[in-house]
Amino acid sequence: MNAVTRLGSKVRRLAGATVGIPPRQINFRFRADSPRYMYGDNATASLHFAVLSGFFPPGEMFFVESVRRYRGRIADQRLKAEVSGFIGQEAIHSREHERLNAFLKERGIDTRVAEQSVKAGLWLLSRLPASQQLACTTFMEHFTASLAEQLLTDEDFRGRADPELLALWEWHALEELEHKSVTYDVYNLIGNRWYQRLLALPLVVGSLTPGLFISWSWMVAREGKATDWKDIAEGVTLLLGRKGFITKIMPLMPEFFARDFHPDQRDTSALENEWREKLFGENGELRDVWRNAG
Ligand SMILES: [Fe+2]
Ligand SMILES: [Fe+2]
Repeated sequence: MNAVTRLGSKVRRLAGATVGIPPRQINFRFRADSPRYMYGDNATASLHFAVLSGFFPPGEMFFVESVRRYRGRIADQRLKAEVSGFIGQEAIHSREHERLNAFLKERGIDTRVAEQSVKAGLWLLSRLPASQQLACTTFMEHFTASLAEQLLTDEDFRGRADPELLALWEWHALEELEHKSVTYDVYNLIGNRWYQRLLALPLVVGSLTPGLFISWSWMVAREGKATDWKDIAEGVTLLLGRKGFITKIMPLMPEFFARDFHPDQRDTSALENEWREKLFGENGELRDVWRNAG
C-alpha cells in the first residue's frame, strides 16, 4: 500500500461515521393527507415550527461556514473527522428542511418570509470578526442541542405532534446531540474567549429574534388567524407559557456562560443511544428511509 492509499484509507476510517457523527442520508416522505397543523391541532404553534424549519437551512449553512474557515488549522485527526461528520449532518438537515418547506409551500404555508428574515439577521452576524461568528455558532448549537434534548424527552410534546413530521424532528434532534460539541471544540482550538461567548447572547437574540416574531406573526395572519385569539392564546401557551415547550429549554441556557463550560458536561449519551436504537436500530422506525445504512 503506498503512502497516498494509506492516507486515503485513514481519512475514510476517520470520517464522521467512525467518530459517532454519521451523516445519515434520509429521504422523508411527506403524506399529502397529513394534518395541516402538525402540532396540537393548533395553527399558531404549528406555524412556529414552520418558521423554525424556514430558519434551519440558512442557519445551518452559517454554522458550517463559521467552522469551515478554520478547518485548515485542525491537526487532530479525530476533530477533523468530527468536523466532517458535523458538516455532513448539517447539510442533510438543510436539504430535508428545504424539502419540508417546499411541501408546506404547496399547501399554502409559505416559509419564505422566515427564510428571508433569518438571512438578513445572519448577514448582520457575518459582518462580525470570524472568531465572534464562531462564538455565536457555539451559542446557537447550545440552543439547538437543548431544544433537541427537550424534544426527545418531552412526552407531552411528542403526544401532540403528527407522528410522520415528528420523525423528521426526532432524527434532526438526535444528530444535533451527536455533534453538539464539535463547533465548541473548534472554538477552543482558536482560543475560547469568554467575553465573545457573553456577547453571543445579545448578538444572536438581537439579530434573529425580531425576524422570528415578524415572520411568525405574518404567517399566522396569512393563515387567516390574526384575530383567532383562542388559537393564538393556546399556541403561545403551548410554546411560551409556564410549562411551554420553549420555556422548558430556558433553564439550560445559562450553562453556556460559565467560564469553564463545555457541551459534554451535560451527558446525553444514554438519551442518544436510546434514540439511535429507536430510529435506526434493526427494527428502527426510520430504517426504511435511511439510504446509506451500514
Ligand atoms: Fe442541524
Ligand atoms: Fe447542529
